[in-house]
Amino acid sequence: MCGIAGYVGQRNAIEIVLDQIERLEYRGYDSTGVAFKSGDSLQIMKRAGKLAHLRAAVEEENPFSEVAIAHSRWATHGAPNDLNAHPHYDATGEVALIHNGIIENYLELKEELTRAGHVFQSETDSEVAAHIIGLEYAEGVPLEEAVRRAVGKFTGAYGFVVISMREPGKIVCARNASPLVVGFGKGENFIASDIPALLPYTRTVAVLDNEMVALVTTEGITAVSPDGRTVKLSPFDVDWDIESAEKGGYEHFMLKEIHEQDDVVRQCLAGRLGQENLTLDGLFGEHVWQDIDRVNIIACGTAYHAGLMGKTLFEKMLRLPTDVYFSSEFRYNDPLLSPKSLAVFVSQSGETADSLAALRLCKERRIRTLGIVNVVGSSIAREVDRVLYTQAGPEISVASTKAYLAQCLVLYLLGLHIAEIKEMPGVNVKAGLKAVREFPEYVKEALDLESSIQDVAKQFANSKLAFFLGRGADANVALEAALKLKEIAYIPTQECPAGEMKHGPLALIEQGTLSVVGATQEDVRDKLVSNIRELQARGSHVLAITTKDDELTPTVVDSCAMIAQTNDWYLNALLSIVPLQLFSYYMALERGCEIDQPRNLAKSVTVE
Ligand code: AGP
Repeated sequence: MCGIAGYVGQRNAIEIVLDQIERLEYRGYDSTGVAFKSGDSLQIMKRAGKLAHLRAAVEEENPFSEVAIAHSRWATHGAPNDLNAHPHYDATGEVALIHNGIIENYLELKEELTRAGHVFQSETDSEVAAHIIGLEYAEGVPLEEAVRRAVGKFTGAYGFVVISMREPGKIVCARNASPLVVGFGKGENFIASDIPALLPYTRTVAVLDNEMVALVTTEGITAVSPDGRTVKLSPFDVDWDIESAEKGGYEHFMLKEIHEQDDVVRQCLAGRLGQENLTLDGLFGEHVWQDIDRVNIIACGTAYHAGLMGKTLFEKMLRLPTDVYFSSEFRYNDPLLSPKSLAVFVSQSGETADSLAALRLCKERRIRTLGIVNVVGSSIAREVDRVLYTQAGPEISVASTKAYLAQCLVLYLLGLHIAEIKEMPGVNVKAGLKAVREFPEYVKEALDLESSIQDVAKQFANSKLAFFLGRGADANVALEAALKLKEIAYIPTQECPAGEMKHGPLALIEQGTLSVVGATQEDVRDKLVSNIRELQARGSHVLAITTKDDELTPTVVDSCAMIAQTNDWYLNALLSIVPLQLFSYYMALERGCEIDQPRNLAKSVTVE
């Protein structure tokens, strides 16, 4: 996620905001910028790449200003370059703005402004917001009023921080879904997108609520609601140390990233899910989807498991033959690739060497390629014909959690998009969109299972082996859940479709062996219960993850975690990964494992 910083006081604001941005580097970024009052104008300096590039440019001029705002951008759309970096001017250069989030209606706003003669330097939605605020400001109202009026025109997620030439002692900020915190100093005040950037300067902070517009000056910090009523801020003192603050107060990045997943779903949908329809920009034309006769999904590890979910979905929903290949095997097996096939590369980092090599083979064979990638501008994202970004924000923990959820969600959106184009009989796209729109709340509800999951983990933390089983889409999730336990708790696992157990793996079951079973797929639940009984007959303790309306499974198993019924088989299976991620986390915690940086593993495997 991008980093935001702002300062107004007597010290050199530019030095302070660049230091604040540096403290947010762990969140990942690909460009930085700063805006400040300089003489009789607002100056903006911004650079693609690391903060050091910006620092070098600033040091050359060595400016001083008592007010400044700064930004580190993690591109979600629009390449990571100097032009797309923040801050952005409005049309007159009177206002400078930085922004976190995605403004869903920016294209229509941009078209209106362009027709009115506005010229834009960048591809970003943020610059459009700056122009809209500048237009309100040109009416002669105070900056805070201009921002308040403007934000009513935006839909989507935003965290804005704005300064102006006309009122240089003011910083105005507004948020909706993208976090903003303010810091209270003595004769000086601060803004940031995350608490760690404030701690070296003040421990008295307040988190802005959604739709608040705050005015920050050296005299103090006040806030108003969208209708202009003064609202009370709730300052509190932070007792975290800086290192734990970077994790948002969580003990590990992995737990932070698991808990971010309801917001990640919203970010993943932002700009794509309107009131009625689904918009996936920059994909192939409709005729291409009619022409594609096969999909080959190519990936590694967790991304491969997301690919399996894509296979189940495309074959069940679209009747589209789909194969999933391990990237590391793909190019050595002389794969059969039909000229009308589509190669889909799923990758969080976009830098996995095996996936990149497989991509280049497909391009040599002139196969259409699509990337489902998290890191904007990464190698795979640049080399595929089309890319769908998962918009999950930087994933720090080596064990992938939120990226997996976002990958599976993007595959689902792609499935609905193709179903709409091909007018697939029996596919209710509107119902699918409704379920997706509600999914963030289901994820939030699943996260509330944390303490009961932790209790089961405490009971089984010393397991020597754990089974992960399921049928249908649950069998795919079982593989991902097993990988989590392996890679962070170092517990050997046996994962397979539940019906496959009696063909060999059942021999491994002993008294007390833990079996984790996904039971969300109603159409195969009776069969699954038979498998559960086979396990219990040989002494296994069975933990099931199932939907709340399941009246059968809870009566059979030894432990059970109940998730929402989303009324969609794919989303039910996907939702079950949330308690399973928590389970692996707490098993590893109980065992005193490292968790964020597991032994022998790297976040991105850029070697073959
Ligand atoms: C999953 O928890 C691991 N981090 C690993 O399996 C990872 O998914 C795999 O290396 C693929 O990485 P990518 O998504 O960046 O291509």
